[in-house]
Amino acid sequence: MPKNRPMTENPAPLSPLPPGSTIGILGSGQLGRMLALAAANLGFRTHIFSPDGFPDGSSGHSPAGQVAHAETVAAYDDLEAIARFGDTVDVATYEFENVPAETAAELARHTRLFPAARALDVAQDRLTEKTFLTSIGQMTAPFKPVDTLEDLGAAASEIGLPAVLKTRRLGYDGKGQMIIRTESELEDACTAMKGAPSILEGFIPFDCEISVIAARAHTGATITWTPGENIHRDHILSATIVPARVSDKTIAAARAAAENILTELGYVGVIGIEFFVMKDETILINEIAPRVHNSGHWTEAACTISQFEQHIRAICGWPLIPPGRHSDAIMYNLIGPDIEKWPKIAEMEDVLLTLYGKTEARAGRKMAHATRLFAKGSLHSKDDLPLTL
Ligand SMILES: Nc1ncnc2c1ncn2[C@@H]1O[C@H](COP(=O)(O)OP(=O)(O)O)[C@@H](O)[C@H]1O
Ligand SMILES: [Mg+2]
Repeated sequence: MPKNRPMTENPAPLSPLPPGSTIGILGSGQLGRMLALAAANLGFRTHIFSPDGFPDGSSGHSPAGQVAHAETVAAYDDLEAIARFGDTVDVATYEFENVPAETAAELARHTRLFPAARALDVAQDRLTEKTFLTSIGQMTAPFKPVDTLEDLGAAASEIGLPAVLKTRRLGYDGKGQMIIRTESELEDACTAMKGAPSILEGFIPFDCEISVIAARAHTGATITWTPGENIHRDHILSATIVPARVSDKTIAAARAAAENILTELGYVGVIGIEFFVMKDETILINEIAPRVHNSGHWTEAACTISQFEQHIRAICGWPLIPPGRHSDAIMYNLIGPDIEKWPKIAEMEDVLLTLYGKTEARAGRKMAHATRLFAKGSLHSKDDLPLTL
């Protein structure tokens, strides 16, 4: 039945949405798929919205569309389709941070949207993101906005080289960024950005990278999972080791930073926060993702509650429950041709394998992940961690 409730940016706490309600999800990749499956486990229905249908435009092709109750295939900027979609769902969320601002605003006019649009504003633009983080007392790499070669020269002399030039918007898996090592590379780097508004960041000689998956409820209650340590290959997450091999002090600092960010954003749902850890144990925030996160996939195998179920609980006004981590874990991404290893992985007794339902194994495409479990407390002392399956 159509409904047209104007919603404010931070609506009053919901009474819990009852099972049988419909959750709308923008985006139809593996994150949407795992959210839809978690929603189904709590008795909810899901409706996916994304442009990715079969070649003839019909629904049910995408990783999320395969497992949802309904799927609308339309462009994200088709505001009429967004309005119709909003009218059919009881609450909406998204699996990616690049939801256009007008789309989020239109959707919020037709249903409740969580996390609210402010989280998108902050996370979509690396300049807004770092400005917000430093304004709430968090540390980041030094940064300067860059729109012209002149800006770039000035930023490079202030920040120093090496430095990393990144587009402010739409970067992922290392796309839209390059390292500048010497002044002679400035001009080529500027040309490569093709006029896109950018940001220059100091190159951080980090000891390791970690991430915290955290959640906040309407009530303001927060939970954080223990940080995982992230290993990248070709700028794409390759493995997450849990717990991260860092000091208790670093773990506590990263969790506290996550709680601070959730509270300052008035956030509802699950968030992923990436950190650089320095030799001296200082932590810098690299970026925040206002959604479930690849480096949190291990929660499904190693905890009593996954990041996906926690997100569904938060946006539906259900209570959050403690992470309940019962095991150490290593999560491996299966990227492109790695997927051919599935029969071997399927035989491993201590590994939970999750395939995304994608047919084409293009290079660099995330096809599946596998989480290997270890006795709780045993990973920290292992010298020789198995970093591939
Ligand atoms: N300022 C930096 N200094 C050193 N390494 C960086 C810096 N920025 C990014 N990187 C490396 O590149 C990876 C991807 O960059 P990130 O900003 O997280 O973009 P993406 O959106 O592609 O994940 C990071 O995980 C890190 O390994
Ligand atoms: Mg990143």
